[in-house]
Amino acid sequence: MAENDENWWRDGIFYQIYPRSFQDTDGDGVGDLAGILKRLAYVKSLGVDAIWLSPVFRSPMADFGYDISDYTGIDPLFGTMEDFDALLQATHESGLKLILDLVPNHTSDQHPWFIASRSSRDNPKRDWFIWRDGAPDGGPPNNWLSEFGGSAWAYDEATGQYFYHAFLDRQPDLNWRNPEVREAMYDVMRFWLEKGVDGFRVDVIWHLIKDADFRDNPPNPHYVEGRPPHEKILTQYSTDQAEVHDVIAEMRRVTDAYRARVLIGEIYLPLHRLMAYYGNDLTGAQMPFNFALLSTFWSARSIEKIIEDYEKALPRGAWPNWVLGNHDRPRVASRVGPEQARVAAMLLLTLRGTPTLYYGDEIGMNQVLIAPEDVQDPFEKNVPGIGVGRDGCRTPMQWDSSNFAGFSEVAPWLPLPEIHVHENVVNLEADKFSILNLYKRLIALRKAHRPLVVGDYHPIAAQGDLLVYRRQAGDDALVVVLNLGPDPVAVTTSAIRFGSEILLSTFLDREGEELEGVLDLRGNEGVVIGAAR
Ligand code: GLC
Repeated sequence: MAENDENWWRDGIFYQIYPRSFQDTDGDGVGDLAGILKRLAYVKSLGVDAIWLSPVFRSPMADFGYDISDYTGIDPLFGTMEDFDALLQATHESGLKLILDLVPNHTSDQHPWFIASRSSRDNPKRDWFIWRDGAPDGGPPNNWLSEFGGSAWAYDEATGQYFYHAFLDRQPDLNWRNPEVREAMYDVMRFWLEKGVDGFRVDVIWHLIKDADFRDNPPNPHYVEGRPPHEKILTQYSTDQAEVHDVIAEMRRVTDAYRARVLIGEIYLPLHRLMAYYGNDLTGAQMPFNFALLSTFWSARSIEKIIEDYEKALPRGAWPNWVLGNHDRPRVASRVGPEQARVAAMLLLTLRGTPTLYYGDEIGMNQVLIAPEDVQDPFEKNVPGIGVGRDGCRTPMQWDSSNFAGFSEVAPWLPLPEIHVHENVVNLEADKFSILNLYKRLIALRKAHRPLVVGDYHPIAAQGDLLVYRRQAGDDALVVVLNLGPDPVAVTTSAIRFGSEILLSTFLDREGEELEGVLDLRGNEGVVIGAAR
């Protein structure tokens, strides 16, 4: 990857670190910035290009850092600004980029802006947040629901109005229709950009603007009993309003004033709505996160369809991206099983578009079962027992087989699974067939073969559990053949006109094998083949 290349984020591979759970160095059972610095060589050894850090800013931690009380300060739990500067410098020195999480939709209720805002109705910051009178019956102003359970409106006794919170009542939403709010947040962005951070992943970006009239949301006719209660109503008026794209274009102008920065948007929306976040003439987010693989039914045909739909829907010139896991969704190894987790890795790293990896997925970490008394996640606490808890995908990185997995000297903030004794970085690095080595080989393969980065995506017709595609750049092409099922399958090579040599198998044991007429795939096997010219 060329240094200072404006488009580094297209060629690059992103790696998300959840700082609480990567490496503890100060013995409090919670990860910190010095810990990430300590493990930087490991991240580098994977071959990835950029690190995205979940929030490390000052926060009461009601939503583990997604409730910020100082946007330009580091929370002492994670260290100091000096620790941050040291990490940024070391990251850059090792040729990696550093992306921060920007949480502009809401602050903490402890943020001085909100403290001022709630202090009186005529405080200059009153309009920085969303205050409304109650309904005539005294209840909340409308029927909008919090994603973390209950009404999205909290009543403030002192000033006799409700404030809006799309998430916890300790996370009041900022009023993005107020130009002062916008400017204040752009200043925050500039603060970090000046330091040299390489961009932002913008939290719940599709939430920023709400309906100007606060109309009631319609009921969701497809609500399924047992799903989280906020899904009972649609979010027609509370999210994804047309004006949000003006805001995002403004944010983009802020990052574009600096060289080679990237704006990534967190967006959970249907495909046609998602595409709007690239903005008019691509003036929006460069990477509106594509979460399609997080919720798909894991079968060859559904994945093929997802890829096809996504490729077709992309606006002209828009760059694709793919995500397999994050700190809000169950771990991929548990969603698809350990065998398919390897196929998923090959898929992610051979698709067209920037891949984002979630820490620990490269060692096959599972969703960890959390006993009720160990629950930390406020979502699970508010809406217990239906499986919405996010702690299970946020457990400490498993570095070695010692008591606390090399993560900490003390019991960590979330439990470690017993399996860490076997499934840890030290063991998997030593096992040449491990998923960790598969990830490294896939990343190296992507780097070594330009078609995997810039090549077009061409689906190749296949049936049953087979997913087959070609990545082609000019005369250069590779073919990827994935077996999404447990049974062996024989593929006639002439049928898909691919080349002669297996470059990589997910089992890591067939490299260099020459193909003659038939490719025999084992169950749950994927291969990349060097195509005939
Ligand atoms: C985003 C974050 C999630 C957080 C929520 C509220 O979805 O990824 O972890 O709880 O926003 O900030």
